[in-house]
Amino acid sequence: MNDLITPYGGELAVLFADEARTAELKEAAQAMPSCDLTPRQQADLDLLMSGAYSPLPGYMGQADYARVLKEMRLADGTLWPVPVTLDVGEALAGKLAPGQSLALRDLEGVLLAVLYIEDIWQPDRAAEAQALYGTADPGHPGVDRLLNKTQPMYLGGRVEGVEAVARHSFTALRHSPSELRQQFAKRGWVQVAAFHTAEPIHGAQHKLTMRAVRELGANLLLHPMVDDEEDYYYRVRCYRGVLEQYPRQTTLLSLLSLPARGAGLRELLWHAVVRRNFGCSHLLWEAGAAGGYDIDSGALQDAVGRYGDELGMQLLAQEPLVYVEDSADFLPVSEVPSGARTLSMDPAELRRRLREDLEIPAWFSYPEVIAELRARYPSHSKQGFTLFFTGLSGSGKSTIAKAVVAKLLELGGRPVSLLDGDVVRTNLSSELGFSKEHRNINIRRIGYVASEITKNGGIAICAPIAPYTELRREVRQMISQYGGFIEIHVATSLEVCEGRDRKGLYAKARAGIIKEFTGISDPYEAPENPELRIDTDGLTVEEAAQRVFLYLEQQGYIA
Ligand code: PPS
Repeated sequence: MNDLITPYGGELAVLFADEARTAELKEAAQAMPSCDLTPRQQADLDLLMSGAYSPLPGYMGQADYARVLKEMRLADGTLWPVPVTLDVGEALAGKLAPGQSLALRDLEGVLLAVLYIEDIWQPDRAAEAQALYGTADPGHPGVDRLLNKTQPMYLGGRVEGVEAVARHSFTALRHSPSELRQQFAKRGWVQVAAFHTAEPIHGAQHKLTMRAVRELGANLLLHPMVDDEEDYYYRVRCYRGVLEQYPRQTTLLSLLSLPARGAGLRELLWHAVVRRNFGCSHLLWEAGAAGGYDIDSGALQDAVGRYGDELGMQLLAQEPLVYVEDSADFLPVSEVPSGARTLSMDPAELRRRLREDLEIPAWFSYPEVIAELRARYPSHSKQGFTLFFTGLSGSGKSTIAKAVVAKLLELGGRPVSLLDGDVVRTNLSSELGFSKEHRNINIRRIGYVASEITKNGGIAICAPIAPYTELRREVRQMISQYGGFIEIHVATSLEVCEGRDRKGLYAKARAGIIKEFTGISDPYEAPENPELRIDTDGLTVEEAAQRVFLYLEQQGYIA
């Protein structure tokens, strides 16, 4: 396979105005209606202005949009697989008319571009979903995003760019199409294969890309898709780490902030057009990989036959590699000699090993990447966690929580913060009462603070009544994305709590002096599946705290 093609050298449609015109536009925009763009819309606009969406001179009008949906072509016949339109709300659209100008701003109000409106229309979203995804089933994530767009109107028209979208991280790894083309030209690179991925690159993908470019006689652009999701920073650090494994003279890393549509073959062809605009000659991806393209080889062949010449790009799905133990090398599955012992590790196994602090074999990835994985997915022993005590007033939550705090401080290691019910109500929720609505606000606040503590590797200990299942579930969701969440039901019975009545509140509640009192005149929904349930009846505080410790030790949170 040494199919050389001439990389696309066509004019880029760069939409930025020059300095003098930019000053004029900034002045004029003060009198224009404005639209604040979401981060996704900003990413699209940035690509549009920089020429990555060449030859588009702006957002598509209705004629382009309709033909793109029908046959993946602009009205003039140019191959273009997905719509690029600006969606706005009815209120704004109602104030606009073709011929008018609209200032496009970021969320801080910075002017990014001016749109000269040519078309305003209400699209049929179900028909768009059908065309892009072959289904209108809201279970499909792309369809769901389209149908749930709160902005039902589309605007089309020419765009004049004023300022690139501000990005503050990894700026040295971001390039416009002209910058990348210049870099390629400076280095004397003619054949450039872009590797598309949305996952970290490990040993198998490293070897896969090296095999492909050697066979092609091409240079390599690692061109991962990134957006502002939580994983972004860690993923880019992984790419930077693995870059050290590649030959410097023939490999470049650049980040692509392209708002994915998830539209199968259309998406692939669209990504190819974009990569072509960046000056690449080939598009590579690992077949069947998460975040790759899920297209069967027949459909791919058909597309290459039909659109290959027009694209001016080679599309090359790469067969995944497995590690062959006998030869200590990676090979495509179909080339493994019969009887050879192969090794592979699926994502679930990788996560288990990280969680349990087990060895990640050296063949799987590189030390820099493994270190990033371990930092991103710390084992229980290195993770932050939240102990969420829940139970009736007087059940002993606070007393047990305080004993647990003391023991954890004795142990050392992580910072510990106690968010006791009473203390929170004095400091964080002093304006709140005990209605369902107010209790829920209170629990959400506690959950938010605990999630921040957990995210940063600390231990949060919460001890509110938290009487509603739904809110406890919400808090669990909020926190478990960052670390451990351990719900502890302090299941002391109402009779025992009322019998103790340390603060005299039960007596007041029975007398009707305190309204909406949990267990008396307000509900307590006992947790069905807490990680731990402790009935304090007949238990000392020490014994109860010890149960919590045993659980933490058993789960590997403490040593
Ligand atoms: S909640 O439901 O989780 O928002 O409650 P919380 O923030 O934990 O506050 C419970 C403490 O407030 C005192 N108190 C009441 N509790 C329940 N119902 C009513 N109506 C009420 N009024 C005041 C009570 O002392 C609780 O403290 P604990 O530590 O639970 O005994």
